[in-house]
Amino acid sequence: MSEAPLDPRDEVGVAQAVTEAQEAFAQATTFDELKEARLAHSGDHAPITLANQQIRGLDKADKPVAGKIMGRARKAIQEALAAATERLEAEAEARILVEETVDVTLPTRRAPLGARHPLTVIMEDISDFFIAMGWDIAEGPEVEHEWFNFDALNFGPDHPARQMQDTFYIDGVAAGGQVEHQDGLILRTHTSPVQAREMLDRGVPLYVAVPGKVFRTDALDATHTPVFHQIEGLAVDKGLTMEHLKGILDHLAKHLFGPDAKARLRPSFFPFTEPSAELDIWFPQKKGGAGWIEWGGCGMVNPNVLLSAGIDPNEYSGFAFGMGIERALMLRHGIADMRDIVEGDIRFSQQFSTTGRSI
Ligand code: DAH
Repeated sequence: MSEAPLDPRDEVGVAQAVTEAQEAFAQATTFDELKEARLAHSGDHAPITLANQQIRGLDKADKPVAGKIMGRARKAIQEALAAATERLEAEAEARILVEETVDVTLPTRRAPLGARHPLTVIMEDISDFFIAMGWDIAEGPEVEHEWFNFDALNFGPDHPARQMQDTFYIDGVAAGGQVEHQDGLILRTHTSPVQAREMLDRGVPLYVAVPGKVFRTDALDATHTPVFHQIEGLAVDKGLTMEHLKGILDHLAKHLFGPDAKARLRPSFFPFTEPSAELDIWFPQKKGGAGWIEWGGCGMVNPNVLLSAGIDPNEYSGFAFGMGIERALMLRHGIADMRDIVEGDIRFSQQFSTTGRSI
């Protein structure tokens, strides 16, 4: 050290060193800067430290004065250092409070949201359409008696739809363990068996819509699936005509396919309706241009069906209709491959809305 150390009796010089230390501590804006200032002003080589070491070599008479000056000086420096440390700690804490503030009102991604399947949404939408008109909603069993699925609907005993290659029959297991044909139980091939169930359960007048799963022995490919969905409608009352049927179907077409959509009936045959019709929908947004698309079947309930449920066809008439839900979804959204609907990939459902009716 080239300069002579500070004289511990030099009150002005010592006060000057203290002031410098206080200023340096006060100017530190980080703990690193404060550390640097502490080493410079109260470390081993700091003027104050060196001055303190001089006391030992002083005359005995000078020691008390020097000791007093230095004691005060060191105390002032320690206090300034403590104050600066406290200030920096408080600043750091305040900064952390701001930087790490959690906005509890922000949406969280903690639980990945699912998506309602568009089939569910469209079935609820159609059900709401009927509920708004005062109709009831019914479901019926998926494992059904052959009698409801066919006989009650006026299918003759030899009707081809009853054949094993179209219908899943339920096998039973006999006491001995061998699988044997269980008489009369099948997976329903359409939602129409619920017609007879509801006529028997609720009686007339009857206005009921039936959304649900149906089963046929088709292999899964782009246009077929062994499990699909239908919505059935049945109205039985006094004085119902085909005009009422057409009005409802027009209204439903507009609800699902837009205000320019409409229904068209073409003569057809079903055992449970007479007359029967194929239902086409005019779909303005059809890919490749507006056009008619086949959507389902309908007709006036065959008197034999009313009779099988104990309803007098001379007093009551009814109309019925049944449509494929997957088909409506595919048409409306240009879905080309039916497998996309059934495979359960969440990304498929997420393309549609997760909630409500806006699919
Ligand atoms: N059940 C028929 C089917 O699956 C569709 C159908 C046609 C339902 C005419 C009806 C109807 O209610 O009246 O092909």
